[in-house]
Amino acid sequence: MKTIACIGAGYVGGPTMAMIAAKCPDLTVLVADVNADRIRAWGTDTLPIYEPGLLPLVRQARGRNLFFTTDVAEAIHRADLIFVSVNTPTKTYGQGAGLAADLQYWEKVAREILAHSDRDKIVVEKSTLPVRTAEAMARILHSDGGRIRFDILSNPEFLAEGTAVKDLENPDRVLVGGDLETENGRRAVEALADIYRRWVPRERVLTTNVWSSELSKLVANAFLAQRVSSINSISALAETTGADVGEVARAVGMDSRIGGKFLRAGIGFGGSCFKKDILNLVYLCRNYGLTEVADYWESVVRLNEYQKTRFVRNMLKAMFNTIAGKRIAVLGFAFKADTGDTRETPALTVCRELLAEHAEVVISDPAALDNARREFGDTAHIQFEPDPAQAAAGAHALVFLTDWDSYRHLDFAALYHGMVKPAFLFDGRNFLNHRELFHLGFNVYPIGSQPLTHLAAGGPGPGQDGPVGLWVCGLWGKTGLASDGSDGSD
Ligand code: NAD
Ligand code: UGA
Repeated sequence: MKTIACIGAGYVGGPTMAMIAAKCPDLTVLVADVNADRIRAWGTDTLPIYEPGLLPLVRQARGRNLFFTTDVAEAIHRADLIFVSVNTPTKTYGQGAGLAADLQYWEKVAREILAHSDRDKIVVEKSTLPVRTAEAMARILHSDGGRIRFDILSNPEFLAEGTAVKDLENPDRVLVGGDLETENGRRAVEALADIYRRWVPRERVLTTNVWSSELSKLVANAFLAQRVSSINSISALAETTGADVGEVARAVGMDSRIGGKFLRAGIGFGGSCFKKDILNLVYLCRNYGLTEVADYWESVVRLNEYQKTRFVRNMLKAMFNTIAGKRIAVLGFAFKADTGDTRETPALTVCRELLAEHAEVVISDPAALDNARREFGDTAHIQFEPDPAQAAAGAHALVFLTDWDSYRHLDFAALYHGMVKPAFLFDGRNFLNHRELFHLGFNVYPIGSQPLTHLAAGGPGPGQDGPVGLWVCGLWGKTGLASDGSDGSD
């Protein structure tokens, strides 16, 4: 094995190949994409994706054994092993629209591989694909009578954005699926596994059959998303019962059988994959007549939609049932911190709903502002402001939708000073110090616990101490504030 290629230089193809090139200096790694702008950017110090630690990794190998190119045919021709890491979005048309994966990019690549190969090759599914896609690929690749042998492997990627470099350097596991029944199949599996074994401990490189590998990827994402929806469902209950979802998550997560990760309640999960992959699983189950199973997984996505809408509904109630004409500063637009990616970001739904209420929306984000601009095009009543302090100036409310670390260190006293009073703060990620903010004068609305507000009749003002119970308004998820500005409780 001398040369490997990767078709698709996106969030997965770019970082994954940079890691392989850095760890295997004896291999030549060609990353090919039809998107010329992307390929150009990979050759500069302004990479096309924002990912901590990625630039030094790319620089380590770029020009040595890592090359970015738009010449897909040449990359295919030269490679002994080809990763396919193209996008597999949800289909928006025809059969399975809204659920199934759109495999047009994937199939196009399969046909290109066949057209530009003149010797045996290993082809690796890196993209997340429906179960049994490898079988379809095998049929396409062998459609000219088997002139060349292609061994098809599944090697799903488990990196998360924002921690991609860390995840690739030290993965929980690497999964290689192949035809373990044949000698050729086993050899191909071992060839790929050996690449990872250069830096991943042997016991973490798992080999399995192709279908199990494909299904494991969908299931891993479905389980992770299910945990987020589970805790978010409890956040709604906590708001109506007076419990604190953070405390509940801590107590529940300390059970070693459950574990503490992925139990942060918030505005809902986003990102290009959770929803897409669950819907893919749902489609698969429906296809096989497993209605109950399909319904079960679909409810994870439904709950996520509910959580986003519920957040805006609560905002509206808190702000006297009208936000028309009010300046709302949205701080954070990326679907999570440490990425500029805005695909399926919950912030998009929230902003659209705020605009539908005729709010004046100002969006700020340290890495996702260009993508945010693209999402909204020429939409009226929306502004983009890199400086959070400028975004907050003159605002009625601050709405935190991404938990950027830099936001923890904002000068909140100054922000409060420049805002219209009463000043509202909605923490869609539950990551700020709510009590401190309350003492600065903000009316603070977390997710999954009671708001801290100065609005209840007779309550102390900003900076004053007193029995919180007197001025915390009751059960905001249920009642919120009444339109007269009282807390709506007895
Ligand atoms: P992406 O959209 O960032 O990148 C895909 C790239 O493929 C694009 O640059 C596109 O131009 C290119 N492409 C499409 N058709 C092509 C063709 N015929 N020839 C050459 N290039 C072509 O997508 P991504 O986020 O990198 O995801 C890729 C796959 O990996 C998806 O299946 C996704 O589900 C999966 N995945 C993504 C993540 C993630 O964090 N983003 C993590 C794990 C798995
Ligand atoms: C996820 C998986 O974690 C990766 O293993 C997988 O490879 C990837 O999807 C994929 O297939 O694309 P990613 O979407 O990049 O990675 O990011 P996550 O950290 O999983 O977060 C997803 C969403 O859930 C974010 O919006 C995040 O804010 C939200 N989340 C996560 C919560 O609301 N609460 C939590 O406790 C955890």
